[in-house]
Amino acid sequence: MVLLHGPNGAGKTNLLEALHLGTQGFSPRARRDAQMIRFDAEAARVRLRGGQGDNAFTTDLVLTRHDSRRVELNGERLSSSDLLRRELTTLVFTPDRLAVVKGGPATRRAYVDRAVARLLPARASAAGEYAAALGQRNAGLRGVRSGHSSLDAVAPWTEAVVTLGEALVRARVDALELVASAFAQTAGELGLADATLDYDGEPASAEELSARLSLDVERGVTGAGPHLHDVRIEAGGRDLRVFGSQGEQRVAVLALVLAEAAALRARHGVSPLVLLDDVLSELDGDRRRSLARMIERGSQTVLTATATAALPAEPAQTLSVAPGEVR
Ligand SMILES: Nc1ncnc2c1ncn2[C@@H]1O[C@H](COP(=O)(O)OP(=O)(O)OP(=O)(O)O)[C@@H](O)[C@H]1O
Ligand SMILES: [Mg+2]
Repeated sequence: MVLLHGPNGAGKTNLLEALHLGTQGFSPRARRDAQMIRFDAEAARVRLRGGQGDNAFTTDLVLTRHDSRRVELNGERLSSSDLLRRELTTLVFTPDRLAVVKGGPATRRAYVDRAVARLLPARASAAGEYAAALGQRNAGLRGVRSGHSSLDAVAPWTEAVVTLGEALVRARVDALELVASAFAQTAGELGLADATLDYDGEPASAEELSARLSLDVERGVTGAGPHLHDVRIEAGGRDLRVFGSQGEQRVAVLALVLAEAAALRARHGVSPLVLLDDVLSELDGDRRRSLARMIERGSQTVLTATATAALPAEPAQTLSVAPGEVR
């Protein structure tokens, strides 16, 4: 456990962002590379040295304002920074991640699809394959609507959407099953009783899609399937999206992160890097102590706080962050 402390604006989140970027190839907050390059600079670089399980690794990532990224893992150039995610796993909690509970279904679908890629790497492409087939089917439906193509052209895509949709739903259900009990336990230890995680949706069958074919043609989109599903996150039967307090929503997201870390450890025997930004600020004393105990059980956790006193535990390392300097 490493604690980063320093005043507001010192650069704590910045440092976590660099750890995430250098291990996963994307930032948990910035949308564009230019946002991560220092205002007056032309380029940014993140070089990391670390270990995951028994594997030591180095990564080196360079962002520039005008050229594409350059990324290396263990001295070998990678064709895309997305490939880092296949080798290294980092989980992050930031206050923005509350959207996983508070936001719309699309945010939860994106979350569960990323969890599938981490927990069930063999099925990492399920979401992308389904989305590609769905895009083709929707284009076909619009072709029929405008009279440019026939229903025959849609049929093979309907078949693909059904098969790939079933596989995607199964992968999502399986991934959620791997974290559900640790989620309930972790949330319980953090004071949120009877928390549950359920997949909400059934795969669309060929019959269902054929029954709604004329409607789908009229709208130009496929109106049933896993691209419309959701994940229900509840506590004691209350939907936390609608009825959760700010603190409860925070605990739920935090429990999701810690539960997935435990599931990854159990499945792959390797602890992911866990980055917890600003988790302590809104938790009361009891919850902070529970969190500190849980973090100690796992490993490779970096957390930020504005004051060292916020953490009721002794971190392995304490780093003080000031603008442009880490001590
Ligand atoms: N591209 C950039 N170039 C230079 N400075 C930037 C850039 N992007 C953000 N900053 C600034 O970096 C500073 C550090 O931000 P950061 O979010 O890391 O602070 P923090 O220590 O996490 O603060 P808090 O405790 O408030 O969360 C901010 O003042 C921010 O405006
Ligand atoms: Mg911050």
